[in-house]
Amino acid sequence: MTPKSFYRRIEGELAELENSALLRSVPAVDCGAEKELLFKGRKLLNLASNDYLGLANDERLASAAIAAVERYGCGSASSRLVTGNFRIYDELEQELAAFKEQDDSILFTSGYAANLAIMDSFASRRTTIFSDKLNHASILDGIRMSGARQVRYRHNDISHLKKRMEAAKDAESRVLITDTIFSMDGDLAYLEEIADLCDYYDTMLVVDEAHAEGIFGSGKGIAYERKLAQRIDLHMGAFSKGFGSLGGAVSGRKNLISYLRNKGRSFVFTTALPPAVIGANLAALRLVAEDPSRGEKLLRMSRDLKTFLESCSFDCGQSESQIIPVIVGDNETALMVRDKLIEEGIYAAAIRPPTVPEGTARLRLSLRADLNEEDLHKIKDAFAGLKAGAE
Ligand SMILES: Cc1ncc(COP(=O)(O)O)c(C=O)c1O
Repeated sequence: MTPKSFYRRIEGELAELENSALLRSVPAVDCGAEKELLFKGRKLLNLASNDYLGLANDERLASAAIAAVERYGCGSASSRLVTGNFRIYDELEQELAAFKEQDDSILFTSGYAANLAIMDSFASRRTTIFSDKLNHASILDGIRMSGARQVRYRHNDISHLKKRMEAAKDAESRVLITDTIFSMDGDLAYLEEIADLCDYYDTMLVVDEAHAEGIFGSGKGIAYERKLAQRIDLHMGAFSKGFGSLGGAVSGRKNLISYLRNKGRSFVFTTALPPAVIGANLAALRLVAEDPSRGEKLLRMSRDLKTFLESCSFDCGQSESQIIPVIVGDNETALMVRDKLIEEGIYAAAIRPPTVPEGTARLRLSLRADLNEEDLHKIKDAFAGLKAGAE
């Protein structure tokens, strides 16, 4: 039988990706959430995961997950609105709402699903959505799904945003959504200016705190740290990063959360997270609420490393967080630097287009609170060696 014609097209596209050093494949990594992961049998310092607080392997989370499995079993067996509910799910939503100082919260199977639900619920074809050019892909997908008119503004460019909002001031309804930490650059949104514009132009304001929760603002995020929490309509976050587990969540006023429970298709039409995950999430939330010092330590360490890298003339962009890009430009150089770091015992992700703009391929260092002095020396020595090698 002759193969169907689409195979040729797919093969062609894969070859093109390979030729431009853009073909992705799952790396030969094992134990990828540990401080030292295994790569092709070697232990490497893990600077590529989002386990910023080192909680994914914390025994208190593991015990809570095991206890939840022993009490409730492995699966939730249904969507939340049918029978996929257990007492600990309600507890988690209530404790998260209290932690974020909001009326109510709703859980999703992932941060991705949470962003889809927000856009799909609060926007329609008659809505204009303002979105920072570097917002996460899940936000873009949610906007596409909603059918709304998308107005993208230049990254962190408030005067551009203002012009765009002025031009759309007669739209039937308006929503603005922004990451608070941009995931490939580690820089922060200008939230105060954005909140002012949203008040002036009567625009719903949604923040994605996926990378900030657990770290900034005593773990509550950047909106809280900047004393803007009550000026923001919806706070989206994720348990998959600083909290070391899985799941997305949205917090806000009671009616808005109730609306999401009714309209969010990625909430209504999917099986709820399994009990083990909820057990771990509750343990992580309680750990952070009781002791936010891990996040503070992580930020001190990140500032120190960024200062060092810049003193070696590396381009770390505008990073102000635990995510530090080392921007090298072309794709091949990014892969070459990644491989050199591996030789030095360090695993960092090489990020290439389309995840980042053409010509800005980079190493994305994501630091973690459990790094010690020795680890930091190892990272600094490796980059100093790279610099010396390039000269
Ligand atoms: C800013 C941002 N929002 C949302 C998500 C999606 O979260 P999750 O991985 O829990 O689906 C991510 C994941 O990388 C992210 O970086």
